[in-house]
Amino acid sequence: MTPDIRFIADFSSAFDQSEKSRMLDAFLSIEKNTLFYPWNAEQFNICFKLGAVAWILEHRVDRQIMGFVLMMDSIDHIDLLHITVDKPYQQQGYGQQLLTCVLNYAHVHHKNIFLEVRKSNVAAIALYEKNDFCTIGQRKKYYATHEDREDALVMQYRIVE
Ligand SMILES: CC(C)(COP(=O)(O)OP(=O)(O)OC[C@H]1O[C@@H](n2cnc3c(N)ncnc32)[C@H](O)[C@@H]1OP(=O)(O)O)[C@@H](O)C(=O)NCCC(=O)NCCS
Repeated sequence: MTPDIRFIADFSSAFDQSEKSRMLDAFLSIEKNTLFYPWNAEQFNICFKLGAVAWILEHRVDRQIMGFVLMMDSIDHIDLLHITVDKPYQQQGYGQQLLTCVLNYAHVHHKNIFLEVRKSNVAAIALYEKNDFCTIGQRKKYYATHEDREDALVMQYRIVE
């Protein structure tokens, strides 16, 4: 099965309300399936309002959303905000495909990429390191956990000196 990847330049103006709701519901459901600490609706809505750019992995036949990557394009760099592939579709190369969309965008626009990731997120860190992201710092107790706080790694993909 080959899914489509749909590019969305700006959520705030790209869709009517019902399509926005469909996407948000799908994102929240994927979050619950895949993460101990899922994003909530408010976090996504803030991204939509601030003009996040996205690529969405969709089933070619029924348009079911299988994963997505969100980034913010700033004047001099890109922030990779989030990347998620729904559980049944993980480890089949889709995370790599989504990340490649962001890398290609960064090269076209000649901007470095920055991201934060939980220190315990082995799969995501492996994906980023495989794609030449380097750890450039840590944010102590940056993320909430159920018991306490967890450090974040700050990673960079460098194309600009
Ligand atoms: C991180 C994530 C997006 C990877 O997506 P995926 O479709 O499973 O990844 P791919 O199949 O494209 O794998 C690409 C690379 O990622 C790494 N990787 C993926 N899953 C991994 C796992 N379970 N353990 C270790 N490395 C893993 C590997 O380096 C892999 O390359 P390889 O197959 O040559 O070993 C997915 O695990 C996910 O959605 N996790 C939950 C959400 C999340 O944590 N997002 C990151 C927020 S910062």
